[in-house]
Amino acid sequence: MIFRQLYDSVSGTYTYLLASRHGGEALIVDPVLEKVERYLQLVRELDLKLVKAVDTHLHADHITGLGALRDRTHCITVMGERTHADIVSMRVTEGDRIEIEGLRLDVLYTPGHTDDSYSFLLADRVFTGDTLLIRGTGRTDFQNGDPRAQYDSIFNKLLKLPDETLVYPAHDYKGETVSTIAEEKCFNPRLKVRSVDEYVDLMSNLKLPNPKMMDVAVPANMHVGLHQEEIARKGWAVTAADAIALSGRSDVVLVDLREKGEREKRGTIPRSLHAPYPDLQRQIGAGGIVHELTVATGKRLILFCAFGERSAMAVQAAQDAGLTSACHIEGGLSAWEKAGGPLVAAR
Ligand SMILES: [Fe+2]
Repeated sequence: MIFRQLYDSVSGTYTYLLASRHGGEALIVDPVLEKVERYLQLVRELDLKLVKAVDTHLHADHITGLGALRDRTHCITVMGERTHADIVSMRVTEGDRIEIEGLRLDVLYTPGHTDDSYSFLLADRVFTGDTLLIRGTGRTDFQNGDPRAQYDSIFNKLLKLPDETLVYPAHDYKGETVSTIAEEKCFNPRLKVRSVDEYVDLMSNLKLPNPKMMDVAVPANMHVGLHQEEIARKGWAVTAADAIALSGRSDVVLVDLREKGEREKRGTIPRSLHAPYPDLQRQIGAGGIVHELTVATGKRLILFCAFGERSAMAVQAAQDAGLTSACHIEGGLSAWEKAGGPLVAAR
């Protein structure tokens, strides 16, 4: 496995680059905007293809690199479903898996530092965001933080992981790089409490100043979504209501770009085809199934995903590949559902 712990000294943020092999797919956790060039250089040097960029929570101390990485690499942006960010490509919840070639992150919902804090478990290690830090815990005094929820996340989820599990947090200000669950159980001063009330008391009296970047970072991090209006202005979008009306027609083909797990969980649009987004470039190029099907039948190609983010990127790629009838459903399946569109179980 390729595992790189990268550091932003300005915000004290750790970013993690993961891949199962050289030449394979890669995933990045908690990227910082100012460091995007460095990450991309490393991705090139290690001959990787960045396919997913994940944030553990909406950060208050730095601007996320999610949007810039998506714009540069067309990777899928991922956050927990409780995020307040406007749109991310994929939203995950407890029990979901974030998968890339050869690697799997299991999602744990660990609120407390913020109400959109998630931890990600990768075999022998866990990325704890700002929920559990090395000999510390993330503050709980803003962004819907809640010390009671954090106590529960730490004591009833993270500390229940095997003792030898490696702990990789999103921040450290003292130069510590890694810990274990056993070490934190024994030596973390914040966890030396006898009850949840004692923890709440401790966390409520920290009297920390707000992070320097907070007023800039929080609003910026809430707007990482693509500008789907631009795609609409080019005439490459249909509203969910239009899509519902079009979906029964024989001169239209709908293509679902989501992953298998997302389809199984939410269902899909009746009679739609499945072409997962990471594979799309191959499918829409000359010789690809979607390309040849569209050209041979003359059908109008309507792409969709969860929120319209992946399909907005895909529609540009389809147009570039000469599929001039290609459009997407603005707002994705989420908008389709809200508009009362029917769903069927995905096979
Ligand atoms: Fe944070």
